[in-house]
Amino acid sequence: TVHDADPDRTTERQVRVPPGVTVFDAASWNGIAIDSTCGGHGTCHKCKVRIDGTNPVTRHDVRTFTREQLDDGWRLACLVNATRDLSVDVPPLTTRPKAATVGVGRQVILRPAVQKRYVELDEPTLADQRTDLARLLDAIDDLEPKPDLHVLRRLPAALRSADFKVTAVVVDEALIDVEPGDTTTTQHALAVDLGTTTVVATLLDVTTGTPVAVASMLNRQQPFGGDVITRISATMMDPDALGRLRTAACETLASLATQVCAEGGVDPATVYEVALAGNATMTALALGIDPEPLGMAPFVMSAAQPPDLLASELGLSLHPRARVTFFPALGAYVGGDIVAGMLATGMDRDKRTRLFIDVGTNCEIVVSDGDRILATAAPAGPAFEGGAIRCGMRAADGAIEVVTLGESVELGVIGDVEPRGLCGSGLVDAVAELVRVGMLDMSGRYVAAEVAKEVAPALADRLTYVGQERVFILHRPTPDASPEECVVLSQRDVRELQFAKAAISTGWSLLLEELQIEHRDVQQVLLAGSFGSYLSAASAVRIGLVPALPVLRIVAAGNVAGEGAKMALLSTRERAGARTLIEEVTYVELSDRADFNDRFVDQLSF
Ligand code: FES
Repeated sequence: TVHDADPDRTTERQVRVPPGVTVFDAASWNGIAIDSTCGGHGTCHKCKVRIDGTNPVTRHDVRTFTREQLDDGWRLACLVNATRDLSVDVPPLTTRPKAATVGVGRQVILRPAVQKRYVELDEPTLADQRTDLARLLDAIDDLEPKPDLHVLRRLPAALRSADFKVTAVVVDEALIDVEPGDTTTTQHALAVDLGTTTVVATLLDVTTGTPVAVASMLNRQQPFGGDVITRISATMMDPDALGRLRTAACETLASLATQVCAEGGVDPATVYEVALAGNATMTALALGIDPEPLGMAPFVMSAAQPPDLLASELGLSLHPRARVTFFPALGAYVGGDIVAGMLATGMDRDKRTRLFIDVGTNCEIVVSDGDRILATAAPAGPAFEGGAIRCGMRAADGAIEVVTLGESVELGVIGDVEPRGLCGSGLVDAVAELVRVGMLDMSGRYVAAEVAKEVAPALADRLTYVGQERVFILHRPTPDASPEECVVLSQRDVRELQFAKAAISTGWSLLLEELQIEHRDVQQVLLAGSFGSYLSAASAVRIGLVPALPVLRIVAAGNVAGEGAKMALLSTRERAGARTLIEEVTYVELSDRADFNDRFVDQLSF
């Protein structure tokens, strides 16, 4: 029960959290604010809640509450672990922390790792010759930070240039800066989705939780190959490739950081933290870790949780003590980007039966029944990236992304320009529509010309040949253009999509079976990533890429990796949640399953 100063606004919330987290974290992860100035460290004694049942009494509780209050169930929320169902009364806030909505409707209370504290210090006198540092530390003794040499160098001038009115910048237990004057309203962080194809950076104002600027660019590792396997192979064939790939990743990140700071009019020195969400290979390459073991059985990572490092070690010119934090990974093919996605979608906090699919060359699938969470990776191949598709292209200007068949062919084209090719969502749409009108049969073969004339007379003349191969003309640039000059969907393209959808549906059907969930009982399907988020739900259902469910249950989740990175920056509780999450999820290896091939073949038909 969450009480408000206004009794009419008291609300009842039921939330699910990983076992063992503190009541304070459980509330914070679910957007419920509990009073605190220490951020859950057990020192401020403000996080008072009333909990039903018997709970241990700590020495901090004894100091905070009367005997009667303890008997009545009052405890400090950050010192009680949720190991069973708990009923908790949360009193109105005396200080209202700010919250932001991030990810798929997630409310995050702003508790960034970086804390700024403005203090007005007494100037030294002959009677008070405390050191500059002692003077500052005495004023922020609840934070108990340790200084470094960088701070000591800045301290005398910072204090004296601002009449001893300064802002201390603290991260965890480290005092990382002393800034003249009151800078508490200036605090930024950089959230990065480090994708294999595209890298997206969001500059956040962490004092409000709002994005200041967003920029994206192609990963500069592209010349080494379009997918993780070709980049891993590059490192195996050329001893210098790892260094060059690392440099390319760093240059991509540096360029984006410069761009968002310029766009947002933000001094890079006020960016104190970076969170990176990337797959296991992208993470290894950015850190200069040999990715070879990721590319071959038994697919082993060097570490699930890379250590934090200074942003300058990645070549980023931000605050000199800015830290970079990475998301932990579940396995070689369910990486930090997916853990970030699970955080953003609240896969571990929702009681509903949900299926999360990040559609791409490597397709990550997560299923939760509200109790257990299973994850796997399915090798979907290059169909969605356009690589193996005759007229395939990335989702850029000129890419057909929507296809509707009727008396004619209606196309939705990115940028509203002349169609140049077909992107992943257009491919799924085109195949789904051709199946619907009967020009592709259930086995994925184009029907005979006579059948086409019967089922779709207005479209039949578009079914033709390029060389020996049957193709369907989606766009003819000029009335007399030859099929070779047209944007077409070939028989082989349909096969590529069939392989991809069979791999994906084998993945989710195995996971559902493992949890004994019927397809129709899935309450929500979250389609994530730059391909998944743009797929038409109806088309995805029609070709069997997702379970046959009402389309309203199928939700585009967007760039959830980037959203997870934002959450980690806005809240240390959420960041800790990502680390707890990996212990909650069971990774299922598909290539280990003896029945994978049979199931895959079963799933090929439309
Ligand atoms: Fe400060 Fe619990 S949050 S004591």
